[in-house]
Amino acid sequence: MTYNDIRKQFLQYFESHGHKIVPSASLIPNDPTLLFTVAGMVPWKGILQGTEPAFAPRVADVQKCIRAGGKHNDLDEVGYDGRHHTFFEMLGNWSFGDYFKEEAITMSWELLTRVFGLDPNRIIVTTHISDDEATAIWKKVTGKDAIRLDKDNWWSAGDTGPCGPCTEMHYDFGPDLPGGLPGSANEDGGRYVEIWNDVFMQYDRDANGVLSPLPKQNVDTGAGLERFASIMQNVHDNYDTDLFVNLIHAIESVTGVKRNAENIPSFKVIADHLRAVGFAVADGVIPSNTDRGYVIRRILRRAMRHGQMLGHKGALLSELYPALITEMGETYPELAREQSHVVDIIRNEENAFSDMLQNGMKLLDSELPKLNNKTLPGNVAFKLFDTYGFPLDLTQMILRDKGLDVDVAGFEKCMAEQKERSRADTKGTKVLWESQEQLPATDDTAKYAPVDNMESTVLAILRNGEFVQAAQAGDNVEVALDKTVFYGTQGGQVGDRGELRRNGATVMNVAEAARANNIVIHKGILDRELWVGDMVTPVINTAVRQQTARAHTATHLLQAALRKVLNTDVEQRGSKVSPDSVRFDFSFGRAMTDDEKAAVEKLINEWIAADMPVAHEEMDIESAKARGAMALFGEKYGDIVKVITAGDVSCELCGGTHIYHTGEIIKAEINKEKSISSGIRRITMFVGTLAE
Ligand code: ALA
Repeated sequence: MTYNDIRKQFLQYFESHGHKIVPSASLIPNDPTLLFTVAGMVPWKGILQGTEPAFAPRVADVQKCIRAGGKHNDLDEVGYDGRHHTFFEMLGNWSFGDYFKEEAITMSWELLTRVFGLDPNRIIVTTHISDDEATAIWKKVTGKDAIRLDKDNWWSAGDTGPCGPCTEMHYDFGPDLPGGLPGSANEDGGRYVEIWNDVFMQYDRDANGVLSPLPKQNVDTGAGLERFASIMQNVHDNYDTDLFVNLIHAIESVTGVKRNAENIPSFKVIADHLRAVGFAVADGVIPSNTDRGYVIRRILRRAMRHGQMLGHKGALLSELYPALITEMGETYPELAREQSHVVDIIRNEENAFSDMLQNGMKLLDSELPKLNNKTLPGNVAFKLFDTYGFPLDLTQMILRDKGLDVDVAGFEKCMAEQKERSRADTKGTKVLWESQEQLPATDDTAKYAPVDNMESTVLAILRNGEFVQAAQAGDNVEVALDKTVFYGTQGGQVGDRGELRRNGATVMNVAEAARANNIVIHKGILDRELWVGDMVTPVINTAVRQQTARAHTATHLLQAALRKVLNTDVEQRGSKVSPDSVRFDFSFGRAMTDDEKAAVEKLINEWIAADMPVAHEEMDIESAKARGAMALFGEKYGDIVKVITAGDVSCELCGGTHIYHTGEIIKAEINKEKSISSGIRRITMFVGTLAE
């Protein structure tokens, strides 16, 4: 029986028993406590907890899952046996306060023995030590005595949330294989394999570990499809099932290497990682250095290392992605729909790491002969990480194959030291400026209408963490003036760039103007010597100022359009306005549809085409409120505020710099819309020349 047949029969059985059949939810959960969807119940957590209404009393599906980070993590096991996967499919059925233990157990049993025809004598069942009820039901329904276990028969998705006792069904592959019964010392031997878990979700666990009964008694079940397939196809190794055999053939043709007893772990790893990376990127994960993006980056890099072990260079998973579509695209149409995006993302990531992998391996190979014990020093592992992009677990995986280890504590020490250095680099100077209590606030009233020939006095110069009286050409410095035309980064708008001049000549190139309290800090590199007390003329880069101003006005239009298209509850939660680009975070409970995104973009571009006037006014806060000006939630405003009004569509309190006619924006284009945390979405948008 193939994967397709098993999925179909499973769903048909539950449909005929009154269950609503639903498609798989995304691998990116709508749940800040989890990096990935780790089980079929994740999309239903709110229903199980009783905070969301159930849309049906009984539901069944086949859910995409990843267990490769956090509490549920199988990454290190993949390739070394025939059972573990980072990506897998979970067959599941649920009762939301409908049936409970007896019906759940009866259906599981009937499906396994009658529909799938498994030999009842080969099925072993376990129950929780506290669960006499489930134990008695098994006896009644099947005549079997359950093995009673503790931790193995208690299930929860995360450290908090719905949980409860469970009962598991295991399959006996027969006495030819080593391994003992579930719960025994050698249970991992391989003879007995868990096939299905019925969880009786009765409790909610809070952050202190306290259990309280849920409003309803629910059932949550999960059966790994890959194991199911291995039993139905009578092969002991999941990687010998039809789907994986086909993927492994594809790997043979892309790498030009045939699998054999020695290199088979690499084939398994690549086949597994292809699924994890392909599905995750299709669902919107982008490889990065944080959170789930980093999990996917690590998995991709491990796959490349195994490609390299097979003698393959360069792109691998991006070449294999079409084979994944062939195998799984019918069940998961998103694979084909997102093909060009996924292949682009994976290929870029593979190109970026390809050389680093070669060079990092050279470094590692040159270090290994120097080891006088079996442990690689932490600083070498750190160099591999920092310079060559080797995640620690990649280095560990490489060494594990050679019987070697990494000094993890040493690695972590290097990591902590580097974090400390970069913290000092970025935050340190702000603290230093804030400690200069004698420095007066910078007069920056001219920032909204910069004059050409301001005569300013240098009040302070900071160089290498120290305030100095003078600095030389080439020095990287931060400078405070008594007055300036620069807008220092504030309210989400990034600061101006420009120059400090003397007698028409450049003294300093200002890469960015920042702020510390009320002081505007000009950051950049000196072209000439500069002394405290010198007179200089601050000059901004007006092209960049214009790009930033049009991006800022466009941000206001974006907010107005979102409130029109989605609803008026949409609230700004953060923003970053840069030259010609905008990042805007707002409260909204779900992903925007393509139609909604198109409608927002269209509206903004209509407002741009209408070339509406943008008024910049100052007034007292009461008048601004009377006008209905939108203010930022939680922000403090002075008595006199600036109000920016674009035509009749937007009116906001705002201290940023803006254009005077919406037509100056030229064009706006939404680049991406994604979730950044529960209930908060992020839009990135390009405007002006970038959008064009
Ligand atoms: N949620 C249960 C599991 O993942 C069914 O095993």
